[in-house]
Amino acid sequence: MIRLDKYLGESGVFSRSEATRAIRSGRVAVNGEVVRDASAKIDETTAAVTVDGQTVRWTKYKYVMLNKPADVVSTTDDTPKSVMKLFPPEFTRLGMFPCGRLDIDTVGLLLVTNDGPTAHELLSPKHHREKTYGFECLPLTMDMKKKLEEGVELSDFTSKPCTVQLDDATHGKITVTEGKYHQIKRMFHAVGSEITFLERLTFAGLTLDKKLARGEWRELTEDEIKILTKG
Ligand code: URA
Repeated sequence: MIRLDKYLGESGVFSRSEATRAIRSGRVAVNGEVVRDASAKIDETTAAVTVDGQTVRWTKYKYVMLNKPADVVSTTDDTPKSVMKLFPPEFTRLGMFPCGRLDIDTVGLLLVTNDGPTAHELLSPKHHREKTYGFECLPLTMDMKKKLEEGVELSDFTSKPCTVQLDDATHGKITVTEGKYHQIKRMFHAVGSEITFLERLTFAGLTLDKKLARGEWRELTEDEIKILTKG
């Protein structure tokens, strides 16, 4: 059982004080009955809560997919370019953070969650979660493609075998199972090319929702959450 104002706060809909105001003004119903007492205790697992008639669901963890724009940093640090500035302030209060990092100029799929244990698993090198990136690069020959696919020796590690699909000499997709710092850019540099544009298209079984414009986000569906947490 939790307090109604806490329930709404943890659903990410309102800050606690906004929740109190909404409850007092009669906008919140529990199991069909308007409740005006912010301290009312409800069963968070079974209660049907609505705000202005819209269902609000409480979940222990929250997961969102962002189409990351360029010029945004994958950090929770309170800096003007932090990715967290793209979300309502509640996200920081709920302990949301980007699951992994994309470079400042890399765009595309970034998972933002407050589920620490799952994020840890997804990022663990042990689990080999696949990530696919669309790229533009300086011309890549078949020999360079083969080298990328076989694994490239970098200063601190050798990249694992991966797949590269070329549309033409300067565009394609690469799927890797690792996520080392600047990995894709360093791999291309090592074989004599350079990445000029990088977009993450998939991450650990999730696919970037093409309906999201850069900078837009949405909550994951139940099915997507299952893929992440059970996959
Ligand atoms: N590899 C890179 O080089 N940069 C990214 O942002 C992600 C993967």
